[in-house]
Amino acid sequence: MRVGVLTGGGDCPGLNAVIRAVVLKGIEMHGWEIVGFRNGWRGPLTGDSKPLGRDDVEGILTRGGTILGSSRTNPYKEENGPERIKAVLAEQGVDALVAIGGEDTLGVAKRLTDEGINVVGVPKTIDNDLAATDYTFGFDTAVHIATEAIDRLHTTAESHHRALVVEVMGRHAGWIALHSGLAGGASVILVPERPFAVEKVVEWVERRFEREYAPIIVVAEGALPEGGAEVLQSGEKDAFGHVRLGGVGTWLAEEIAERTGKESRAVVLGHTQRGGTPTAYDRVLATRFGLHAVDAVHDGDFGVMVALRGTDIVRVKLAEATAELKTVPAERYAEAEVFFG
Ligand code: F6P
Repeated sequence: MRVGVLTGGGDCPGLNAVIRAVVLKGIEMHGWEIVGFRNGWRGPLTGDSKPLGRDDVEGILTRGGTILGSSRTNPYKEENGPERIKAVLAEQGVDALVAIGGEDTLGVAKRLTDEGINVVGVPKTIDNDLAATDYTFGFDTAVHIATEAIDRLHTTAESHHRALVVEVMGRHAGWIALHSGLAGGASVILVPERPFAVEKVVEWVERRFEREYAPIIVVAEGALPEGGAEVLQSGEKDAFGHVRLGGVGTWLAEEIAERTGKESRAVVLGHTQRGGTPTAYDRVLATRFGLHAVDAVHDGDFGVMVALRGTDIVRVKLAEATAELKTVPAERYAEAEVFFG
């Protein structure tokens, strides 16, 4: 059997751990040939692939990024995209695909499954916003990076009696903001799920200053003020229709400075949150996802995604996996609100 593997969408710490597990278990336990397709769906679309053996995956467990490269190529936006993929797979003798990605990559995987291609999905995203799995790998690493940044910002903010606004990733879901803000003892956490009142944020900031303790405001890039719109870096859309977010932190820091008369600065963590070595938790989760994806292929159970439920890895239908985003529920936000101000 010949099995292809690809990584699509934004990269994420732990992708290489999945690839390694697929290659090692596929070769050792089943005697398969494994083929790596480069740059997400662009690989099977253009036939850009390379064989993957033991040597190719040695030493990659701890490495961030993906040895296969990634892209946001959407085959359904390309002329005869699905037909071209079918032709490439037939030509290269690839029987099944393991697609590692977020909602966009897995959405394509679902549609290709409906067209008769054998696909098993593996969920990845630092945003942790896939509803069918308790956690995605990459999230824990991103939260660690953001928390360390917040810890460091506390001491410099205190020295200068400044407010510091930390902008973290999270387009539609505020999980990174919620977890890093809670872990880092933020004065305020702002998430896309809950439009915020600037006056209220200013009130919390003032309260923190009154106690002579510098406020740290953690804001997700997709958070928006009540009655306002998302702050965009560019209106240009990618192949999945996403605009580039970013800038809410700088905007908010200016508002705080203006309304409180206190110095206020913004720090945008950006892609730092996606780079570098995965945490031990993410390495283990990614490895387990890879092993279980191989089992699904071996069982001929296609059109599914592996998912974490509690401490078990289960299979869910791709249709279910991509049906809705997992956003921060009101009760989780309420837990964090106890510490605001
Ligand atoms: O993967 C999701 C994400 O991390 C979002 O939070 C963010 O908006 C996006 O990726 C940015 O990715 P890129 O800069 O690669 O388009």
